[in-house]
Amino acid sequence: MSLPRHVAIIMDGNGRWAEAHGLPRYRGHLAGHGAIREAVQGALDAGVDWLTLFAFSTENWRRPSSEVQALFDLFESVLREETPELVEQGVRIHIIGERGDLPATLREAIDTAERISAGQSRLHLVGALNYGGRQEIVQAAARLAARGEPIDETSLRSALYLPEMPDPDLIVRTSGELRLSNFFLWQSAYSEIWVTETLWPDFTKEEFAHAIRAYQSRQRRFGGVPQG
Ligand code: IPE
Ligand code: IPE
Ligand code: MG
Repeated sequence: MSLPRHVAIIMDGNGRWAEAHGLPRYRGHLAGHGAIREAVQGALDAGVDWLTLFAFSTENWRRPSSEVQALFDLFESVLREETPELVEQGVRIHIIGERGDLPATLREAIDTAERISAGQSRLHLVGALNYGGRQEIVQAAARLAARGEPIDETSLRSALYLPEMPDPDLIVRTSGELRLSNFFLWQSAYSEIWVTETLWPDFTKEEFAHAIRAYQSRQRRFGGVPQG
């Protein structure tokens, strides 16, 4: 089968990685920075058009505020440190989710990353930050209803955070959990799912390539019958 156009990753297992190394949870998040670089490199090497990284869910506010703050600090420094090199590599950055609730300095880093990468198109890198699949659908429907527009599949899709983004062909989750955790509920209707036991900080570009090979051995049917 052909290359997936869009790969989305649920980056999970930072806390367990930290625990396994006798470190506080936030150190696991810090260690996840390297895995983000690996995933982006894997996507560039493979030549996929879109890569989404699920970084913070609308439910992750339930964590201790010190951990939430550590995550926001990390996202800000990843954006500030990585964006110039990403732009050089032809990467366009998009952030989806409820931005208004994020700290002002993080919102600034997001705006800057989106602005200075806006001319790139080799790889679209989507960060899902304060993102919830249910919230996205409800908000899209509410927006259409407020405008008095009909609600159908086409109009609802056009009211999602990033209408031009194709549905993910492949969703990868690290750390062995077999659930979506409110990620891409609309977009995952026919996504292939691949789960690895690897904890996020240990994820590599080689494992990204492995996930793509696994995807290529699948048969997608979209409700039809197997193709000859
Ligand atoms: C993923 O790692 C990072 C976020 C969800 C923000 P976790 O922090 O969920 O790690 P585990 O699941 O506790 O190991
Ligand atoms: C999903 O991981 C969210 C992100 C990776 C950002 P969680 O660790 O929050 O998921 P649950 O709570 O185990 O379902
Ligand atoms: Mg987790």
